[in-house]
Amino acid sequence: MVINNLLRSSLKSQLGSYAKNVAASTSFPERLHRIPLLARLYSTGASLQTEDSTANLKDGNGFKGHDMLAPFTAGWQSTDLHPLVIEKSEGSYVYDINGKKYLDALAGLWCTALGGNEPRLVAAATSQLKTLPFYHSFWNRTTKPSLDLAKELLEMFTASKMAKAFFTNSGSEANDTQVKLVWYYNNALGRPQKKKFIARHKSYHGSTLISASLSGLPALHQKFDLPAPFVLHTDCPHYWRYANPGETEEEFSTRLAANLEELILKEGPETIAAFIAEPVLGGGGVILPPATYFDKVQAVLKRYDILFIADEVICAFGRLGTTFGCDKYNIKPDLVSLAKALSSAYMPIGAVLVSTEVSEVIHSQIKKLGSFCHGFTYSGHPVSCAVALEALKIYKERNIVEQVNKIAPRFQDGLKAYSDSPIIGEIRGTGLLLAVDFSDNKSPNEPFPPEWGIGTYFGAQCEKHGMLIEAERDSIMMCPPLTISPEEIEQIISIYGKALKATEERVREPKSEQNST
Ligand SMILES: Cc1ncc(COP(=O)(O)O)c(C=O)c1O
Repeated sequence: MVINNLLRSSLKSQLGSYAKNVAASTSFPERLHRIPLLARLYSTGASLQTEDSTANLKDGNGFKGHDMLAPFTAGWQSTDLHPLVIEKSEGSYVYDINGKKYLDALAGLWCTALGGNEPRLVAAATSQLKTLPFYHSFWNRTTKPSLDLAKELLEMFTASKMAKAFFTNSGSEANDTQVKLVWYYNNALGRPQKKKFIARHKSYHGSTLISASLSGLPALHQKFDLPAPFVLHTDCPHYWRYANPGETEEEFSTRLAANLEELILKEGPETIAAFIAEPVLGGGGVILPPATYFDKVQAVLKRYDILFIADEVICAFGRLGTTFGCDKYNIKPDLVSLAKALSSAYMPIGAVLVSTEVSEVIHSQIKKLGSFCHGFTYSGHPVSCAVALEALKIYKERNIVEQVNKIAPRFQDGLKAYSDSPIIGEIRGTGLLLAVDFSDNKSPNEPFPPEWGIGTYFGAQCEKHGMLIEAERDSIMMCPPLTISPEEIEQIISIYGKALKATEERVREPKSEQNST
């Protein structure tokens, strides 16, 4: 009955094409079995489609919606002939091809920190394209923008002393590079067995073979034969979800650090090379480190000579109200990964920062081997570097960190004011990052049935009211541009309120049916 009602109401309109195809092609009992599949898919990104979206489908069972094998797109979405096509961006807004305006409360994909049409970034790209659209950085040839950007990044990062910057095209490539650098480092030190990596459950480090292995999200591993065997995963530090009854944050951190140490000892410290963590775990749910967590974890790593890799792909350049996430949590990393806001996403670029100690060892290895044989055609692409340099200049000139600290309290408090909602388990965030977990009775152990698709429905409601966020099965995340105005923050809070009200209403009917059975 519940499923029937859901099919009749929102699944039918929101998840239209999939539900229709399932309904058309399967018997009822099979339908019951398959609908929950919708909610298990990692990518939801709910998009409101018209009922006749499927009218032109050539074949409802295949990837026939459009010609892209689209990243992180659910099966039912990939048959849709009308994906949300974004055509234009302006400040904190984007517009679709029908001219509908959306407040981009996810800054693209957690990356357009300076909003959608910063003319100085466009000018930096154009000017570089006119002068030198491309030259590489192999064999001791390079370009001025890449040299300048490396210098600038090394000066900017002060949590620990960094000596070198290596450029990639993405965060995933940065994290893959980290693994190669760490292996190269340990080979140089004559300890070839010290090669394993420890990452955390629920972390997101990218989707190439190695970065997906490091990520702690099962959907990135299933059917891809991942994770790679040298990657181990330790606890996710989500206090609300995983703390024992009565455990304080400090005690929770102590327990997690003890578990980490136990894992290291079980595997043999001589086999563990590095630990990788996002200062605030981002795509896996905006999970803030509990009090004393990084102090305790770093103490364990130090004891066993294990490198710390800070994945700052989301946290860097002001997002948390500090220049880097490491500054906020007193993390002293050996290696750092950067991407996204590095160029405000106007051009693809990532970077790895390497500490003095690690780079000296790597250099000794290079001297023996003759050449450092790692790099990409577009490592240090001059246009990407020119745009990134300009972005860093703007962050400084406009005092973006201070700006975030000014605006973030209203963003956080305005949205957290909805905490009493009966469908919200936890709202958490810091700076301009925020997530909501939906659950029943405020309990982390009482999720709504997956087939209700609460997060997805909430996301679709936001989209209907002109706001884009990231929506998962039972959670949503927000990461607006760092340049967002106070008025736009109010708009986020208002649309959020409308979407929440609609979602509460949506839950009421199946919940009362559930209670009466
Ligand atoms: C923390 C973190 N690391 C790495 C990545 C991967 O970056 P990219 O998508 O540029 O490969 C992401 C992407 O969201 C990320 O959030």
